Amino acid sequence: MNARWLDAELEGADTSPERRGKFKKKKLLGRRKLEDLVAEDPDQIADDTIRRLIDRGHITGIVAELKSGKEATAYVARGPRGSVLVKLYRELEARSFKNDAIYREGQWIGDVRAERAMQGRSRRGLEMLQGMWVSAEYAHLWTLWQAGLSVPEPLVGPSPFDYEATTPAVLMRLIGSEDQPAPRLSDVRLTPEEARSAWHQSVRGMADLLRLGYAHGDYSTYNLLWWENTVIIIDFPQLTTRQNPHFTQLLRRDAQSLVTSFRKHGIQSDAETTLREVQRLARERGPEPRVMLP
Ligand SMILES: Nc1ncnc2c1ncn2[C@@H]1O[C@H](COP(=O)(O)OP(=O)(O)OP(=O)(O)O)[C@@H](O)[C@H]1O
Ligand SMILES: [Mg+2]
Repeated sequence: MNARWLDAELEGADTSPERRGKFKKKKLLGRRKLEDLVAEDPDQIADDTIRRLIDRGHITGIVAELKSGKEATAYVARGPRGSVLVKLYRELEARSFKNDAIYREGQWIGDVRAERAMQGRSRRGLEMLQGMWVSAEYAHLWTLWQAGLSVPEPLVGPSPFDYEATTPAVLMRLIGSEDQPAPRLSDVRLTPEEARSAWHQSVRGMADLLRLGYAHGDYSTYNLLWWENTVIIIDFPQLTTRQNPHFTQLLRRDAQSLVTSFRKHGIQSDAETTLREVQRLARERGPEPRVMLP
């Protein structure tokens, strides 16, 4: 494959911390209004997805909007077992599915008609893509959570039958508290000691993923939460496996994004050294798997 083409494709995936700023002022399309998501009487909630989540007993209601990103908006909600983070993907037409093709490459779609519908970006195709995106995020969350990694606990599943029914929302445990959700590492000030600890945990987190055969695909302080001196990895729809022909480049780019985004915390490293350290740690024993209660 043409290397220049690949670079351009990877560039297009737009995950580098420096370039993100550019998009800040862009009008966010397909954004739901908070007033459509809340009501005293759940039957009066205008938004179908939220009503469905309440009907199925996953949440009792939305509490606040936490953060609106390019592809999804994060909300704080209450659920039967505590605070919930609802990641609600945008309306279909407003989603870019940014460079989805590069992440899907090497993954078997399995159905020629589905493949064609997705390539054509028809409404049906977009619905399938949205469903795949949500399912992928849940499936990855479950795998990583059960393997003992530092990720939020998924709150629907592990059966796809259950979690596919929450599309276009992904429900997971809220890290932090309702009043004070955990900040991202990109948003906090750290003491030098905290910065070193956060760095080591983040490198180890990348190694934990690699040990399982994954590259995060968007690994930087923008997707790492910081709570009680612990790093928690988030945002998994674009996780890729070794089957992806660009796996090594994605891994290297993750190392680079991590290094670049940690500079503001005074950590000076380079991508090659970091990647070698990640590969070394990946050969060591990983965290203890979590035991699932029946
Ligand atoms: N489990 C969680 N607990 C607390 N906050 C969370 C959790 N998951 C996500 N968040 C918050 O919601 C934001 C959006 O989540 P995420 O990164 O998964 O979505 P995104 O669509 O990729 O957003 P962005 O475009 O900003 O990266 C995160 O930056 C973080 O602040
Ligand atoms: Mg993110």
